Amino acid sequence: MSHDLFEAARAAMEKSYSPYSKFPVGAAIRADDGQVYVGANIENISFPQGWCAEPSAISAMIMGGGRQIAELAVIADKLPLCTPCGGCRQKIAEFASAATRIYLCDDQGVQRTLTMGDLLPYAFETDVIG
Ligand code: THU
Repeated sequence: MSHDLFEAARAAMEKSYSPYSKFPVGAAIRADDGQVYVGANIENISFPQGWCAEPSAISAMIMGGGRQIAELAVIADKLPLCTPCGGCRQKIAEFASAATRIYLCDDQGVQRTLTMGDLLPYAFETDVIG
């Protein structure tokens, strides 16, 4: 991964709205269109209504015209490394393949590289819907 995805995730994290958890998270996607799309977690006083950084970035990607995730970086400033939560794994998988690389970052850069298949083995898929 080039440095720009890490830098983009870190800059996105600075925009996090997380007054309740005080756990800012940023995510950056390089999409199939070559563009980088970013997002941060955005919380709500009605706690379940908040959402994670990864769906923010996915929303930016879709609305920006991207359709597939080529690679994704995630960063939080509190843990050494933030792995995408279970719900986020399913959301990312919708726009990724098992080989899609997921970069776990700290403030120094990428510390671990995983694949979507590592994060979500035996992902739900079916051809009987729709
Ligand atoms: N969070 C994310 O943004 N992404 C994840 O994958 C894990 C959790 C956010 C949600 C909440 O705003 C805060 O981190 C604490 O859980």
